Amino acid sequence: MSSGDREAIGLSKRLYIKTYGCQMNVYDSTRMADLLAPLGYRLVAASDEADMVILNTCHIREKAAEKVYSELGRLRALKAARAEAGGRMVLAVGGCVAQAEGAEILRRAPHVDIVFGPQTYHRLPDMVARTLLVPADAAARGLLDTEFPAEAKFDFLPEMAAPQGVAAILSVQEGCDKFCSFCVVPYTRGAEYSRPADDVLQEARRLVGAGAREITLLGQNVNAYHGAAPAGTKSAGGEWGLGRLIRALGEIPGLDRLRYTTSHPGDVDDALVTAHRDVPQLMPFLHLPVQSGSDRVLAAMNRKHTADAYRRLIERFRTARPDMAFSSDFIVGHPGESEVDFAATLRLVGDIGFAQAFSFKYSPRPGTPAAQETQVAEEAKAARLAALQEVLATQQRRFNESCRGRILPVLFDRPGRHRGQLIGRSPYLQSVHVEAPDEQLGAVVPVRILGAGQNSVAGTLDMRPDAAGVSA
Ligand code: 5AD
Ligand code: SF4
Repeated sequence: MSSGDREAIGLSKRLYIKTYGCQMNVYDSTRMADLLAPLGYRLVAASDEADMVILNTCHIREKAAEKVYSELGRLRALKAARAEAGGRMVLAVGGCVAQAEGAEILRRAPHVDIVFGPQTYHRLPDMVARTLLVPADAAARGLLDTEFPAEAKFDFLPEMAAPQGVAAILSVQEGCDKFCSFCVVPYTRGAEYSRPADDVLQEARRLVGAGAREITLLGQNVNAYHGAAPAGTKSAGGEWGLGRLIRALGEIPGLDRLRYTTSHPGDVDDALVTAHRDVPQLMPFLHLPVQSGSDRVLAAMNRKHTADAYRRLIERFRTARPDMAFSSDFIVGHPGESEVDFAATLRLVGDIGFAQAFSFKYSPRPGTPAAQETQVAEEAKAARLAALQEVLATQQRRFNESCRGRILPVLFDRPGRHRGQLIGRSPYLQSVHVEAPDEQLGAVVPVRILGAGQNSVAGTLDMRPDAAGVSA
């Protein structure tokens, strides 16, 4: 049935999903759209005309909940206007704020119809149907489903419907058992769970069939992956780690690039390091959060590794794949962090040399151990963040500069601002701007890097006849 036919018989409903936070939420949002498609919902780009609005929320740092409440305030007016015009808008809140706040959302925002957690969104179609059964003007209370069900959500998700484009994401692992002192993830996303390797391989083949050239494997702690090994393999009945999974994905024809995020240093094993040596599709770029360079703070954070252990890990990756580059996450001002500790973080940054990094002021999250400790003064946090970001920005610029003159394979995934321009990603996730014809969209093409800025690089297509085989 075409979307026009659907509309004609009133089956076509508009779904708007606003996604906050991490890549995992981006992935979950695509799956929510897949789940609701059989009910006649198709994605639209704005909330104004939508028949259903989902806020897929994030709780990782401060003000997340307040942002959601203020958005819900805006949507209340929209929903009321819709009702006045004789229509109906279903309003749902999902993701980690929904998990953390639960019934509080229905109390503070009674116009919300559905509150659901990251582990219950496979039940969305049922919740929507139950909501729509009750007339809009009946004073019904919203539905709440934020438990951690025994059944695995992934078993209830339909096949991927929405095409994801040339660079796709695939969730392989969820939840986390690490309990870093500052982090809400173990509470909002629940215990660590890995999808069976066969499911991952099947979904990857489907994505490639639908046009993906690159797949990023997602997990809150992705390198803790330990999914059931496929039947008929040597390890059947046992488990595969991430390194083994990556080797198997490397066998899929047409899949040119593999990435994975986010990793914990404590869960890196030999199989993962050697995958970087042996699997050419695995990009030589790794996001490996270290959070701090001080052993005292790392212990207080319950990270279970030292700064030197992190340095040694980076060396192992560099030995396996000499052109490897790294990015990281940092938190400044964790409870107990002194100026001496912060200096150790700057030292670590200087030793490693990051191609890119994210850095944050520590923000107390309710219910986490660090939130109960004595807090570092706001001014100290702000000063440390500014100092750290200056060093990290310099390193990023330097890394981009170091690519000048190199020929890098670039996957063109979007048109540029002007006609005749395309934008793509280098192996190092840099945005690369190039004059190139539209036919190159979706292709991996060698590009000679000529210019470097803070956040992107620019280059020209490398037309030498032997250039196609060039790698980073
Ligand atoms: N405060 C500040 N940053 C945090 N992060 C996670 N929790 C907090 C917090 N309470 C950062 C970490 C993590 C990234 C996703 O967000 O650096 O790696
Ligand atoms: Fe949070 Fe990552 Fe630590 Fe897990 S490993 S608790 S997701 S910071």
